[in-house]
Amino acid sequence: MKITASRTSLGEISEDVLIVPVFEGETPRDSDNASALAALDHLTGGAIASLFDEGEMTGKLDSSVLLQNVGPFSTKRLLLYGAGQAQHIDSVSVRRLSGAAIRAVLKHRAIRSAAFLVTRKLETEALAQAIVEGALIGQMSADLYRAKEESTAKIEALDLISELPEPPDFDGAIKAGSAMGEATNCARALGFEPSNVMTPTELADRAQKMANREGLGFEVLGEDDMKRLGMGALLAVSRGSNEPARLIVLKYEPDGEQAAGGSENLIALVGKGITFDSGGISIKPADRMEEMKYDMCGGAAVIGAMQVIARLRPNVSVIGVVPASENLPSGRAVKPGDVVRSFSGKTIEVVNTDAEGRLILADAITYAINNGATCVVDAATLTGACVVALGETRAAVMGTDQQLIADLVAAGEQCGERLWPLPFDDDYGDIIKSDIADVKNVGNRTAGSITAGFFLKHFAGSVPWAHLDIAGTAWTENEKPYLAKGATGFGVRLLANFVLNRAKAKDKE
Ligand code: BES
Ligand code: MN
Ligand code: ZN
Repeated sequence: MKITASRTSLGEISEDVLIVPVFEGETPRDSDNASALAALDHLTGGAIASLFDEGEMTGKLDSSVLLQNVGPFSTKRLLLYGAGQAQHIDSVSVRRLSGAAIRAVLKHRAIRSAAFLVTRKLETEALAQAIVEGALIGQMSADLYRAKEESTAKIEALDLISELPEPPDFDGAIKAGSAMGEATNCARALGFEPSNVMTPTELADRAQKMANREGLGFEVLGEDDMKRLGMGALLAVSRGSNEPARLIVLKYEPDGEQAAGGSENLIALVGKGITFDSGGISIKPADRMEEMKYDMCGGAAVIGAMQVIARLRPNVSVIGVVPASENLPSGRAVKPGDVVRSFSGKTIEVVNTDAEGRLILADAITYAINNGATCVVDAATLTGACVVALGETRAAVMGTDQQLIADLVAAGEQCGERLWPLPFDDDYGDIIKSDIADVKNVGNRTAGSITAGFFLKHFAGSVPWAHLDIAGTAWTENEKPYLAKGATGFGVRLLANFVLNRAKAKDKE
């Protein structure tokens, strides 16, 4: 989608449709929006006012009216889109608004380009960025493998039309919004792919293509490298599968950093990349097992966040680490009760082979720390317990550093990928003490998300670390007006914003 900003007069719009957001209470006669709605009413010979007079458009959230061939327009269509109550305007509501409006437009196959009227209430950089993100995220559909004629059309061009005589400069907002929206969709595209396509090798190949395109450093470890290094936890998970595991590494250095004496600060983003989770020998029930193709969404979020970072170039070094593996049962698979030695040297009793995410993350976290990470954030679809606790709306956060947790929570609020802190008292750690090894990979039935976090804490050691359990938020079972069913890309904007904020704070020092 090519996105531009302009100040075209309402009668001269050449796109296939003009999208006009309408807040509750606005009318062509009396509102903040009056100038635009009144001008459109004039251009359409009264068609707009009569819609309002007859109560067909009230601004109710996600209501819409499409008008065709009205008035002396250069554009053929006008979509009035209900934006809801104006007191709820923030970047989250505006992102949803633009996403929903784009999805409404996509239902009409003839529409390939759209103008979006940035009305007065929306004339800020942050909201313009939200419009761009929402449009990009909204337009993505899940029907990757459907016949072309049947699949959803795309909007090729979007122009943000300003109402003001001297509109603010939206170039920065378009750049940041495009970076965020496109990377979110890249992460979603990785998630949507079925596991017969999205193998660990394929995930690594796609990450490499992205790295080459965006100018990031790239490295990938194969199973021989893992054996040499002693990554026994990651290799234990991969054993049951014929697809070899990969450890994907993406590296970002800010401009001039090397010259300035290197990176004392290195933020590591670590993402779970299980391309299919059958549970292994502790096999899962068949019902909804197909959703376990999404078990690499933490890894996809890290790859997406690294893409944003590559484009927006914050002044801080970042390393992205994605351990990728399948989790399958076979005659070679790791078995309940097996003890493995992790990369850190700690031994792990594998009580349940379905608690595989924490095993691959353990070695990836050690890898990040061995490579100089001074701060580690991991994102993982780690526990069903997290879905039960928080649902699709918020992800869980826990960790060893309160400032880090607070910064992540703030980044989440900023972009609408919201977090909720779970308690992390040391007592929870007792639940995963093993009789035979340093730690076991599951506890009892209680506090499943927290004990998973405590398992990871063993490998973070004294490095400030936080863990995001995105099991509930990484994909959605229900289509939303602003979002297709399936992978959400949750974590891309959150992690990217977290890094951008850290860089800004550092620049201020
Ligand atoms: N990938 C799953 C967690 C999951 C389940 C995410 C459902 C999203 C939806 C993870 O590997 C897993 O299987 N966790 C187990 C842990 C248990 C064996 C301690 C779980 O949550 O049941
Ligand atoms: Mn599992
Ligand atoms: Zn899993």
